[in-house]
Amino acid sequence: MSEREKQALINTAKKASQNSYSPYSHFAVGAALMAENGEIFAGTNVENISFGATVCAERSALCSAVTAGVKKFKALAVYHEGELAYPCGVCRQMLCEFGDMDVFLSDGSQCRELKLSNLIPYNFQTKEIK
Ligand code: THU
Repeated sequence: MSEREKQALINTAKKASQNSYSPYSHFAVGAALMAENGEIFAGTNVENISFGATVCAERSALCSAVTAGVKKFKALAVYHEGELAYPCGVCRQMLCEFGDMDVFLSDGSQCRELKLSNLIPYNFQTKEIK
């Protein structure tokens, strides 16, 4: 992926974080997924007073992409201002169903690059459920 594409993805995640609905944690997160064809899908965290109903930014972006019929991705960017936010276990498991991808974590001043497969080695899979 080009530096330009990477910056576009991080910027989209940053913009999405500005729409975060996080009145309980005040922890605003934005995510952006880049499809194989370069199309970008954004998501932000949407919290709820029933805390367990909260949806993370990463799953929000994933649901948006799948709703548009996109299921193959080159990269994911996650943005949280001031501190890197690592995707939670539920988001890692949901994302890895759609293949391995580059992951860029940005806090506005630093960017860490990883592979999704490094974030979730030994993810749950089974031949018994098709
Ligand atoms: N959160 C995300 O949306 N993504 C992450 O990578 C880490 C955590 C959200 C969930 C919750 O709304 C808030 O951040 C605090 O956990």
